[in-house]
Order: sequence, then C-alpha cells, then structure tokens
Amino acid sequence: MGLAPVWRLRAGGAEERADDGVVQAVETLPEPVASAPDLGSAASPLSAPPQSAALSPAPSSEHEVRPARVVLPVRDPVPRPTATAAASSSARREEVDPARAGRIARMDWDELEADIRACGACRLCEKRRQAVPGVGDRGAEWMFVGEGPGSEEDQRGEPFVGAAGKLLDAMLAAIGLKRGENVYIANAVKCRPPHNRTPQADEIATCHPYLARQIELVRPRVLVALGRPAALALLDAEISIGASRGRVFRRGDTPVVVTYHPAYLLRNQADKAKAWEDLCFARGLVQELAGQP
Ligand code: URA
Repeated sequence: MGLAPVWRLRAGGAEERADDGVVQAVETLPEPVASAPDLGSAASPLSAPPQSAALSPAPSSEHEVRPARVVLPVRDPVPRPTATAAASSSARREEVDPARAGRIARMDWDELEADIRACGACRLCEKRRQAVPGVGDRGAEWMFVGEGPGSEEDQRGEPFVGAAGKLLDAMLAAIGLKRGENVYIANAVKCRPPHNRTPQADEIATCHPYLARQIELVRPRVLVALGRPAALALLDAEISIGASRGRVFRRGDTPVVVTYHPAYLLRNQADKAKAWEDLCFARGLVQELAGQP
C-alpha cells in the first residue's frame, strides 16, 4: 500500500538553526519518499495503519538505502552539548547524592519501584498524587522515555495513558509494536511537574538514578527519547530534536534515537510524518543490531 518507507540519500549534510537558536551540524539523513501512515488527528489520535502494510519492506533499487545502514556503525557517540546546557545539566547530575545513586544502582525491580513510590528527593514529590515508575516488558528490546507524568498518569500511576499516550500507542502500532510487548515505557521524572510544566534540569538529574537503573535492568536494544527533556535525561546534554533526528547517539553501549514528544505532535500534526520516519529509522537500527536482514 506504499506505506513503508523508501529511503533515498539526500545530497550532502546541512546546517540548520535549531529552535533554541543553536546552529548544529546535521548529518546527511535518509529521506523517505513514501507517505507516512495516518497517525490520526488530535480528535482521533488512535488510527494506525494495518501492521502488514506498515511493516512490509519496500522494494529495493540501487537508489534505496535502508535507514540503519546509513548510520551504522554508530559514530559521534556523545552529542555535542551546547556550552551553557552542558555546564548546567552535568553539574547538576554530579550534585546528585552519590550514596543514594549507588544504592539505587543495586536495586531489583521491586525495590526500585518501591523506592520510586516513596521518593522525596526533589520538590516534585510535594504535589504529586503518586509517583509513576514505568510500565511494560522488563526484557524489552525497545525502551521509550518521555518527559514526566501528566494529570492522568498521576491519577492512574502509569506513563502515557492520556491523550499523548494514545498517540504514542498509535505510533507504536505504526511500526508493529504494542505497549507491554517488547516495549518498556518510562519517564525522565517519575512525579508530575505541577501544571504539567517541563521538568527542570535539577529534577531530571535527581531522578536520573531511577531511569539509569530501569535501563540497566531492561537492557533494551534501543532507547527512544521522546522530546528534549528525555534526551537531556538520556544523554546529559541539551540537544535540538529537529537537528538531531536521524542520528544515532549512544548511552554507554545502547544506541539512542530522538524524536518528537507525542504531546508536541498533537499540537503540530504536520510533524507526525517526521516522527514516523524516526521510528522507522529506529526499527531499522533494531533489526540491524538483531542481525536481521
Ligand atoms: N507525557 C510524558 O512525557 N509522559 C507521560 O507519562 C505522559 C505524558
């Protein structure tokens, strides 16, 4: 049905001015020439393409390049942080109590979730109804990281169960994935920021030992950062999503792909196609790492 991506190399790299005003080099990206699946409108964000169509491989020709092959082997392992962001985010991560981080680093799942639920390490605990540890397959190949719980998540204790979560589910379905099956979902911060504000760098840093332990326990093949705060949590660097799409970053040995946050996509429907490209890119990477043709 023409839903699968056909990748063509765009000629040469480019420089783009990111939304934060920082000029960053953009690598040559594979450019999809097929249309993205319908991820739905804001009113009805659930529609996703039939899996067979979304997953069917594109016919090959000498101009077509599978996405993962464009970037592998993984290079440029650490994103180049902007000077100010690097100073603020890494300084704050270093300020996190090392004894607490060490204790969390040794926890099993039950201890970890109990500790998250009882956490009072930052101001976010003051206004939360409950902490929201994470959900899904603890042996998943895919791990998606969002920003922080919103109102519905705070009520239900599960990440991405509101409108953004419905869109995330549709995005997962578009690449043949399903919440809870080979997918683990977590957030950069485990407690709802008041009025759904963006979590601050020090809150992300304080919560980071929990995210780090979740990643260690899941050991995913790929991490997908949904939005800038998630990328900050995973990479300890401020990046522009627009300028970082199509690149493979690394967190230790684990590749990290960045894309837009579903809540942003609900407000910017035109970028849904880009998010789908990013997920196809990540899927190519996972297949490559799994040694699948
Ligand atoms: N947005 C997030 O980043 N995480 C959630 O769990 C819900 C909305």
